[in-house]
Amino acid sequence: MSNYAEFYRRSIEERDVFWAEEARRIDWHRPPDVICDYSNPPFARWFPGGQTNLCHNAVDRHLAQRAGQNALIWVSTETDQERVYSFAELHAEVQRMAAVLQSLGVQKGDRVLIYMPMIPEAAFAMLACVRIGAIHSVVFGGFASGALASRIEDAEPRVIVSADAGSRGGKAIAYKPLLDEAIAQSTHKPESVLLVDRGLAPLPLVEGRDRLWAPLREQHLHAQVPCVWVDATHPSYTLYTSGTTGKPKGVQRDTGGYAFALAASMEYIYCGKPGETYFSTSDIGWVVGHSYIIYGPLIAGMATIMYEGLPIRPDGGIWWSLVEKYKVTVMFSAPTAIRVLKKQDPALLKKYDLSSLRALFLAGEPLDEPTAQWISEGLGKPIIDNYWQTETGWPILAICKGVDEAAPKFGSPGKPVYGYNVKLLDDQTGAELTGANQKGVVAIEGPLPPGCMQTVWRDDARFVNTYWKSVPGRMVYSTFDWGIRDEDGYYFILGRTDDVINVAGHRLGTREIEESIAGHPNVAEVAVVGVADALKGQVAMAFAVLKDASCLGDTQAELRLEGEIMKLVDRDLGAVARPARVRFVTVLPKTRSGKVLRRAIQAVCESRDTGDLTTMDDPAALQQIRDLVQTKNS
Ligand code: PRX
Repeated sequence: MSNYAEFYRRSIEERDVFWAEEARRIDWHRPPDVICDYSNPPFARWFPGGQTNLCHNAVDRHLAQRAGQNALIWVSTETDQERVYSFAELHAEVQRMAAVLQSLGVQKGDRVLIYMPMIPEAAFAMLACVRIGAIHSVVFGGFASGALASRIEDAEPRVIVSADAGSRGGKAIAYKPLLDEAIAQSTHKPESVLLVDRGLAPLPLVEGRDRLWAPLREQHLHAQVPCVWVDATHPSYTLYTSGTTGKPKGVQRDTGGYAFALAASMEYIYCGKPGETYFSTSDIGWVVGHSYIIYGPLIAGMATIMYEGLPIRPDGGIWWSLVEKYKVTVMFSAPTAIRVLKKQDPALLKKYDLSSLRALFLAGEPLDEPTAQWISEGLGKPIIDNYWQTETGWPILAICKGVDEAAPKFGSPGKPVYGYNVKLLDDQTGAELTGANQKGVVAIEGPLPPGCMQTVWRDDARFVNTYWKSVPGRMVYSTFDWGIRDEDGYYFILGRTDDVINVAGHRLGTREIEESIAGHPNVAEVAVVGVADALKGQVAMAFAVLKDASCLGDTQAELRLEGEIMKLVDRDLGAVARPARVRFVTVLPKTRSGKVLRRAIQAVCESRDTGDLTTMDDPAALQQIRDLVQTKNS
């Protein structure tokens, strides 16, 4: 048995001993009573009785040894700013933010919604929340008012932390009007809104509700706010993610299990060491930003780079220049970003000294072979694909370089990571597929390892019903991804089994986009599908049936309407969810029982075989879509 096989076996078969050892990586205020309480499956309680604090482990714990070392390196090519915070400075800033939040009434267990661009104050706010036991809920800055409103409604934050604006490609994107509209739409109203004024956009304040960060920070310059020790099972944050139904789910994460699961992943998977620099190009609005911009690197005593800007501005060498300047040892990005860089001058990959860099990790969407080859040859570094989800918080499949000698295979994110009892299940019968090269649903036998989601925020029933299936004697979690395992035990991910699409590494629900489009007064019905795209992996395509179809066939009128619908999605969900095209049809293809045949629409858009259509009601409906797609392609 190889070292890794034995390591993996222990993590599953001697689960409690394995994790008890890993938990020593962090500081505990009080040791736990038990390691894993799985008496009420599928709810796993890791380290119940133990007490710790995420901010203590990310910041305070390092002060003794590395107070003066870099902790947070902020680079904005949008506003041409660069600012480096040592652990001591980060500690001071986080305490200022914590004191301000407390002055606004935030207490342990309260929710704080963070709707921020990639600026240091966003990191301060996250760390300040967990410092005082408040539960943060970061909403991606690219989301607009409708998406924000539904999250405010569900999280019921006491305080919202935001800013005047984000910036993209040098253009300010005002956040405040979107935030005001979202609060107006939501029945829940925050008591206060704390605003960072970057001077990028007008910032009108609502009397009695809105407060500016800068003067409050001044008032709390010397704040000393001790960490509040919380139970290991206390929620540290919720993060909303899309699923099959329109309403996003609040993925709820614990404190203790998350802290040491990340600490372990930093050694076994990412191989980062204290005092080094980690650079993840993601955004704090996504799970990668939570785990590998903020918490993972800091818990490991590493400096972390927070980058605001595009990968190609001022030129396609910007990221590599940062690797050289800050001696980055571990880098994490998404395949889409690499495909964007691939269109730039390849000489930019050779322009900087990248000798510090050990490996580039890519995740979030399938990594195609040409992209992997190009970047691997260009950098001359190992490229390591890893597969996981918002729900799990850290990798499910990877090659754990820190404990495994195995070579990666192109197209595969690798093998099950320690702690994850990964199975492939037959989608019809739920039976386990044990042979090689059989296609099934990637599933994880419970309990999920430490750091994974505890439940859906305030909806245990939804957690159980959405993700879990009972197979006699055990419960299994579905990832909603198709997968296949080869004879060497490597997995390959073949796409989602549900209505989630992945646009440029951003996870979106087609149902949410449909609901937004259906808000247009002239739309009677709409179907949105994900269609393969060479650059973004997938794009959203919408097919709408109009209430008043008199404009059909009039190209100008159709384009006008398409523009209106796109604007509506921009305002409601954000440009990130905007469909690449909105096409108009007189009827949608449906089964005789009235279900829209989204898979068939997708197959037609991708010029694939549509499979069995015997249940289809009206074949002419699909033909309309075929004709539209073919006209576009011709
Ligand atoms: O479909 C899988 C895809 O992204 C989904 C999870 O997205 P999200 O919740 O945003 O978390 C991303 C964390 C990295 C998965 O269900 N996905 C993620 N990583 C990969 C992937 N598909 C193929 N290969 C990957 N490495």
